Parts: sequence; C-alpha cells; structure tokens
Amino acid sequence: MNDITKGGIIILDFGSQYTQLIARRIRERNVFSEILEPTVLLNEILKRDPSGIILSGGPSSVNDINSPIVDYNILKSKIPIFGVCYGLHILTKFYGGIVESSGKGEYGPEMIEVEQKNGLLEGISSPSKVWMSHGDKVVKVPRKWKILARSSNNIIAAISNHNQTHVATQFHPEVYHTSEGHTILDNFLFKIAKCVPSWTPNNFIKEKVEIIKKIVGKNKVLVGVSGGVDSTIVAALMHEAIGKRSKAILIDHGMMRFNESESCVKSLKYGLGVNIQLFDESKKFLRKLKGVVDPEKKRKIIGNQFIKSFERIASDLNDVIYLAQGTLYPDIIESGFNKGKNAHMIKSHHNVGGLPKNMQLKLIEPLKELFKDEVRKIGKELGLPSSLINRHPFPGPGLGVRIIGEVTSKRIKILQQADKIYMDILKKENLYDKIWQAFSVLVPVKTVGVMGDHRTYENLLALRAVTSTDGMTADWFQIPTEILSKISNEIVNSVSGINRIVYDITSKPPGTIEWE
Ligand code: XMP
Repeated sequence: MNDITKGGIIILDFGSQYTQLIARRIRERNVFSEILEPTVLLNEILKRDPSGIILSGGPSSVNDINSPIVDYNILKSKIPIFGVCYGLHILTKFYGGIVESSGKGEYGPEMIEVEQKNGLLEGISSPSKVWMSHGDKVVKVPRKWKILARSSNNIIAAISNHNQTHVATQFHPEVYHTSEGHTILDNFLFKIAKCVPSWTPNNFIKEKVEIIKKIVGKNKVLVGVSGGVDSTIVAALMHEAIGKRSKAILIDHGMMRFNESESCVKSLKYGLGVNIQLFDESKKFLRKLKGVVDPEKKRKIIGNQFIKSFERIASDLNDVIYLAQGTLYPDIIESGFNKGKNAHMIKSHHNVGGLPKNMQLKLIEPLKELFKDEVRKIGKELGLPSSLINRHPFPGPGLGVRIIGEVTSKRIKILQQADKIYMDILKKENLYDKIWQAFSVLVPVKTVGVMGDHRTYENLLALRAVTSTDGMTADWFQIPTEILSKISNEIVNSVSGINRIVYDITSKPPGTIEWE
C-alpha cells in the first residue's frame, strides 16, 4: 500500500447491495475508502494504516452457522469501527449482546428517536427519517454499551461502546432515503475516526506521479490509448510523471466515431504535449471483416487483429518495459469478488489497450483505486477538454458492433455521419450529460421512402439512449418527442443512405445496450 490510501476507511463487505455506495459516499467527502473481503486479517489492515473501519450490511443472519464472520482481532483493535446493519449484529454478538432473528425486522423508511445527541448522532434531529433493511434486530446491547437511538416501533436503531470508538446502526446511513445520513457519516469520519479530507484530485495526481517515477525509474512505458476516457487519462498522467519516456499509441481500427482518433491525439499531443502516435490499421481490420456478419465472429476478428497490431507496434519499441492500463476500481472489485461465479457469456468483450497474453511487459495501473467519476475529475485536473472527459462509454470493437451485418467502409461512413448529427443535437439540447450512453445503429433493412418527387430505397437507422450506473442494467431514456423528430429530420435530410429512423425502447434486461 502507499500513502494515497493511508488514513482512509476500510470497508469490509458482507455482501450488501449498498457497499459500493458507502465507498462512494466516503470518497465524496475527500476521504479515501477501500472495500475488502471480510476474511482479511488484522495484519493486512494494519499495513494499510486506516483511520477507521466500516462493517457493511449483508443479507446473512449472524445467528446462522455459515454466516460470514470477521477476524476478531479487528473488532478488538484500537481502530474506530462503524457497523452498519449486519455490521451492527456482528459487533453486538461479539461483545456479548443478543441479536434476534425473528424474520420480522424492519424494511424501508422508518423514523428514529435520538437518545444520545453526541458523537455519532450529533446534530441529528429527532425524530429523523432513516432506511432500514434487515430481518434481524438487537434485543440486548452488550454490557457497558449504550443505546443511541430507537425506531418508532421501539427497535434499537443505533448503539455504541462507552466512548463511541465502536458505533453501529440498524439503518443504512449511506442511502439517500436516510435523510441525515450524510451528517452521520461525517460524524464517524471526522469526529470519531478523525479522518483528514485529503483525497482530492490534486493530491492524487501529486502522489501518483511520485509513485510512478519511483516504479519506472529510467525505463520507458507504453500506453495503449483507445480514445476512451480511462486510457486517455492514463496517457496524460504518465506524461505528467515521466514526460517523453511515456510512449502512447492509438491504434485506429477504422471503426471509431467521427473524427474520434484525430481529436484524441490532437488533445493529448498539442494540448498537453503527450508523446503519442496514431497508427491507422483500418485497412487490415476491414479486410478481415469482409463478408462476415455473425456478431461473435466480428468481435473475435476485431479483438485478434487488435492484439496482432498491438504486438507488432510494441515490438518495434524494444526498449519499453512497462505497459500502463486504464483499469478502474470497479474492474478490480468485480474480478476479485466474483471469482468462481459462473456467469453466462453474453458477448465476448474486447478491451483496447489490453495486454496480449504472451507479451513480457510489466503492468502499471495508475487508476485502479478510482471510480469513473473520480477518473473524470483527475482528467479535468490534468487539463483534458471536457469533450473528451465526459464522453459516453464506447465498446472496444467500436462501430463494428453497431453496423449490423457486414462492416464496410461505406457503411462506417454512413453511421459516423448519422451518429455525429445525433450527438451534436443531444449536446445542443443539453441532453448528452443526462444520458449514460447514446449511439446509433445501422440496420441492414431497406425500406421505401419518398424525398421530393423521388422514391427512395435506403437503410434503417436505430437510435439508442440509455440511463445506467454501470452498464449492467439500463433503462431507455425518454428523449422529448420534438427533439426526436429534429434528429430524425436532420439525419434523413443530410445523410445519404438512410431514409428511416426508429427509436429503441428496450431496457436491459431483457435487451443489451449494444445491438451485437
Ligand atoms: P452490453 O451491450 O453488453 O454493453 O449491454 C454494456 C456496456 O459495455 C460496453 N461494451 C463494451 N465495452 N469492450 C468494451 O470495452 C467491448 O467489447 C464491449 N461490448 C460492449 C457497451 O458499450 C456498454 O456500455
């Protein structure tokens, strides 16, 4: 661990749907937070030198034999602890209180009456609205512990040890429905755990730059830039740390959005002075995609060719030892926490900038502690334009999976033009930033239309816009009808090759966000 994570909060995750939210809420207060599995031992935690620990909620009951437990040395240590829901039950049981599993706990909104107005609940009104979500409840508090609040139907809602170094709530302070949850979290962070709010973009950059310099020494680093937010910011950060010894490459597979590669290279090269080179490999990709219509085959061809191009280009840079990648915190949580769980493969994903298996480069992942919105703040601090930073996510295979059927340069051009019009209108109408991801799909269905006195027989274009938090689920976004007609008119009138527009109103599930 490094200085960036020192003095932060460690969250032990017992499986609550809100665990990530706790981490977010803490970071929003400029305090670093890190989620760990509950099996972690005290030694590991001490190495990280946190100011406090949060025991998250979870679906289990502490009275079940197989319920998750925690290294008891952690509970006995001097580090301040906040138990939320299941965390409350763990603390209660460990210190000799009684938790009852009646199955009739409290769910949903509740009012609490505050009995101790100092420490954790200082400044909280009484009654105050909170959000409950568990079947178990505390029926006897441990010896020498006190009750801080009760709910309106007399269930113990918050408790603490005698000097409030260990505190716990039956409700969830991190969710929006707990109306004074932010004050409760602040009380724990700043009054009880004595955290210093130093987790700011500027400090992050300063400390990361030092760490990167130390790791890399006099060596060189390769950065695979995809045009997307994360890898672009990695390139800017590596440049800030080691200047010209960072060598960024952008492989254009020919299926980027309109002008995307050029504008990314321009912002990095001329805006920030980043050592970046664009490699136009589009002909190779298109040659291999000739005649291919199966979505999975297309994905595989693009992914494999990408690795081939990447290896060829990287092998010419024979003095490079490291590869910097834009891995983010959610990727780490997902791969670490979902180990062994067998999910169905819906689509084979391809991530630009990924390390080909047999390459001998050492990995540097400077953003691996960050959530997406934090990465954006780093990008802003590094001086990247908001047009790059706030861009919607874009899949590795690019427009290749948004052109249904065969991918040809003519069809790419049609889609690029139409998509640009769509994006420009969304931006002009202040809708772009309200939408998580929007794009258009070229459908190989020809329909009859009429323009002027002429019959037309052209392609169908589908517009897609969704709201989401992480892309795992999504809702279709309700673009106002007058804006939809503006988009439709402008595309049909100015893009030759399209004469009909439809709007996709499928959520995920049952649909996916991309069409292929
Ligand atoms: P789906 O279509 O699976 O997409 O609902 C969920 C999110 O993932 C993006 N996506 C990809 N991103 N490489 C990526 O880096 C890929 O191969 C890929 N395929 C889909 C998609 O754009 C959406 O944001």
